[in-house]
Amino acid sequence: MLTQAIARYPVADFASEVLAGLTKLGQKELPSKYLYDEVGSALFEVISVLPEYGLTRADARLLRYHADEIVRRIASPVLVAELGSGSAKKTRWILEALSRRQRTTYFPIDISPTALAQSEKELGQIDFVSIVGYERPYLDGLLAVAASRHADEHLLVLFLGSTIGNFDRPAGEDFLGEVRRILYPGDALLLGTDLMKPVAELLAAYDDSIGVTAAFNLNMLARINRELDANFDLLHFRHAVRYNEQERRIEMHLRSTREQTVEVRKAGFRVHLARQETIWTESSHKYFPEEVVQMAERTGFRCDAQWVDEEWPFAQSLLIAK
Ligand code: AVJ
Repeated sequence: MLTQAIARYPVADFASEVLAGLTKLGQKELPSKYLYDEVGSALFEVISVLPEYGLTRADARLLRYHADEIVRRIASPVLVAELGSGSAKKTRWILEALSRRQRTTYFPIDISPTALAQSEKELGQIDFVSIVGYERPYLDGLLAVAASRHADEHLLVLFLGSTIGNFDRPAGEDFLGEVRRILYPGDALLLGTDLMKPVAELLAAYDDSIGVTAAFNLNMLARINRELDANFDLLHFRHAVRYNEQERRIEMHLRSTREQTVEVRKAGFRVHLARQETIWTESSHKYFPEEVVQMAERTGFRCDAQWVDEEWPFAQSLLIAK
């Protein structure tokens, strides 16, 4: 097993994004990517085993059941890049199936060093697989991987766990287009998307009965306190979940339970919150299977195959660059 050093890269400026989001006119917001520091990533691992939250298990089941067929459908030799690798547990099924056919290099791309260390730990022992992590934003990392490949090597990009659902629909589609521009015809993108389901189930999935998702959400403020020397009083914020019917998405917010002013010292500003005002922290869009096929077609892919979980509506779509 060969493991290369993690490539360091300066992370985006947390302070300036927090400033921009909290001083916005109208709805205040914080970028959902900042939910995943060490604490947030650990809380998400707990969310993924909660009975109410079937998404991660459905994603993993589909990969486990269909890994051989997925691998059979892609050109070889192939390099594997994963956008937002998280703990990368479910990636094992794909890498094991591939490594029965060829030596494989796996490039997890994540802005979180914790996530990269986790994927290394989880997948570092598979025979014939080497791991090269990139601590970078998705497209920067993917560009670096694409630049390192040899002429005969194809790319398989994994974008699992319905992370695309955190983008608004137009931004998600733009993102697929950006990925497509980095790929060559015949390269593949395996895209995981959570599917539309009854609203009561969606609300329960994001507002679980033991409050893990609430802690995951509130940790955003705790992180700002820790890293930017802010003074959010977490007792005066509540986790709030809404289903937005027009956009077909779940939204997570943090609701201020009283009028308050918070100082974010390292970003050099104060923010005033009215009683009941919310900070929007995440969207999780829900899709129809055909919608994914159409999105792929509009961005230069064709959908080669799609698998849907029987227990928890979730789709894996294998998209091939045209
Ligand atoms: C990891 C982005 C797919 O949107 O469902 C889980 C994150 N947020 N519970 C999702 C999340 C609240 C999750 N994704």
